[in-house]
Parts: sequence; structure tokens; C-alpha cells
Amino acid sequence: MTEDDPIASGSLPVAARSPAKCILFGEHAVVRGGPELVAAIDLHTQVGVARGPSTHLNGDPDASRTNAYLREALARHWEGGESLAIRSTSRIPKASGLGSSAAFTASLLAALGSARGGVGRADLAARAYQTERGAQGVGSPGDTSAVVAGGYISINAEGSEALWSVAGEDTAWTVRRVSDPGWIWVVAYSGIPRSTAEAVRAVGRRLAEPDGPKLLERFRQVALEGIGAVTREDRDRTGALLTENQALLREVGVSHPRLEALIDAAIPTSLGAKLTGAGAGGSIVALPRPGRELETARRIASAGGLPFVVRVEPRGVRIVESR
Ligand code: MEV
Repeated sequence: MTEDDPIASGSLPVAARSPAKCILFGEHAVVRGGPELVAAIDLHTQVGVARGPSTHLNGDPDASRTNAYLREALARHWEGGESLAIRSTSRIPKASGLGSSAAFTASLLAALGSARGGVGRADLAARAYQTERGAQGVGSPGDTSAVVAGGYISINAEGSEALWSVAGEDTAWTVRRVSDPGWIWVVAYSGIPRSTAEAVRAVGRRLAEPDGPKLLERFRQVALEGIGAVTREDRDRTGALLTENQALLREVGVSHPRLEALIDAAIPTSLGAKLTGAGAGGSIVALPRPGRELETARRIASAGGLPFVVRVEPRGVRIVESR
């Protein structure tokens, strides 16, 4: 998806639908400008926005104060606007590392952008990043760009023409399209919610230690090789690199015994597996051996995870008919 596919101008009521995301390589290092590979996956959040007598989210009148994503989005992109009845429904488990906040933010901003004359995808990606960053205080535009673009995207890696760039205070990120090899993935939630901000800060402290630069360089190499392997449709190499990336994530302290148990359960029927997202809880992603997707999901469920067999969702956030 490119600027040729903007969010069109519309009027209230309006609804938008966003995919979830799954980070395949490079989480945490991306916050410091490292390369990353992220895919939009076919779990969705839908946000409907209508005029209302007072602003509320799913009936909660305090949400525009207590929900940091809603608060930031309204302050930045609904200045002086009328009060809104907002309804959000989602299949993405919350605080699971699968992009529930990015999908909510992108859907809400797409709906608001449509109601205010439409918005291009590069602008929407920048708005979604700034809103998420404002709410979380830390982070990269990887999650928000993936759900705005759909499909597979790389961050800060060479390749096809850039879709867009996003600038932070002292880091810049360039987003590119990566071709879809058509694989089926299994993601699974550990049931342990986690805070992205806390995990990012803990990794920041770990990377400030003397071996930090060497570790970051290893993250960089694994992610670049991973992007190359997916582009070449080399499934075996991709799987091996997922497992290498997990060793690095373990080393910077964001794995968890529950995540390790789910990964161990997935490995016998998979080519590789790792945590996905901020870690310290949250979810794992496995690349199953072809034809063994359901077996992988069953094994993970027996180990206590909540598995989803997913395909990559080629469409980024979009306006939908249903309210
Ligand atoms: C969280 O989904 C991914 C992190 O790299 C943070 C970020 O990129 O914002 C841990």
C-alpha cells in the first residue's frame, strides 16, 4: 500500500478496521534505529466513531482521560471537535505483543482522519506513531507502520523503494515493502500481559552496559539476514534465524519461563520460534513446518498458550462499511 491508497474523506458515523502485527525480527533494537521485519496478521480491531452526547469509549465516559491512546489521539487530531461515541471491538488480546494498541490507534486515527477530509498513508503512519509514542513515552514506529501498511514491512533495511520515513527525536526509521512468501504462522499469547514501556526501558539499561554495542550489532545482523531469508522465501533459514533472534532476546532479559515453555512446545513441529513484541510476557511466534500448523497450535495450547494460526493480512487499516 502506498500514498496511492489514502484513507478517503467521509462523514460521521465512520468505522475503520486494522490488522494486528507480529514482529519477526529486530524488536527492541529497532527502538535504537536497528533493522526490523514486521508483518500485519489477520486478527483485527474495528473502531466505529459516531456523534454522541458526550465522549465515551465502549460506554466508558472516563476513557478520554484514562485511556492514554484515546486521550492522545483526540488531543492531537480532534481539536475542537464534537463529542464522540466510540466503539472498539477486537480479536487481538490486549497487552499481548500483537499490536492491540497500534491497531486501536491506527483505526481510530483513520476514522478521525476520514471525518476530517481524508489522510494519506504516510501521514497516517506518522500520526499513529506520534500518538502511540505520546501514550507510551517510548518506542519505534514499527508496530504502527505495519498496521497502516499491511503485508510485510522492513524498517531501516535496504530493499525496495521506501514507503515512508518517520522521524523521532534522535532516530529516523525508513519503512519498505517486503514481498510476501505466503507462509502460515502460529502466534500464541502466554496469558501474561506486559508493559511495552517497562520492557523497553529495561532493555535500554541492559544495552547501556559495556557489551551493549556488540549485542546491538548481533541484533542488526540477525534481522538483516532474516529479511533476506524471507525475501528469498528460504523457510529453513528463516526458522533458524528466529531461534537465533530468541537467544539474543533472552540475553537482554525479556524472555520469560512461560514464553520458553511455549517455544519448547512449538519447536518439534516448527522450523524456529521466538517471542514477539516487547517480551517479558506477551506472545511467541513460530514458523511451523508446512502442513503441521494445527499440530503446532495444539502443542502450544497443551502447554497453556492461546494459539492463533495466522496468515499475513495484505491490507493495512481501512475504512469499512459496517458501523
Ligand atoms: C513492541 O511491539 C516492539 C518494541 O520494539 C518497542 C517498539 O518498537 O516500539 C519492543
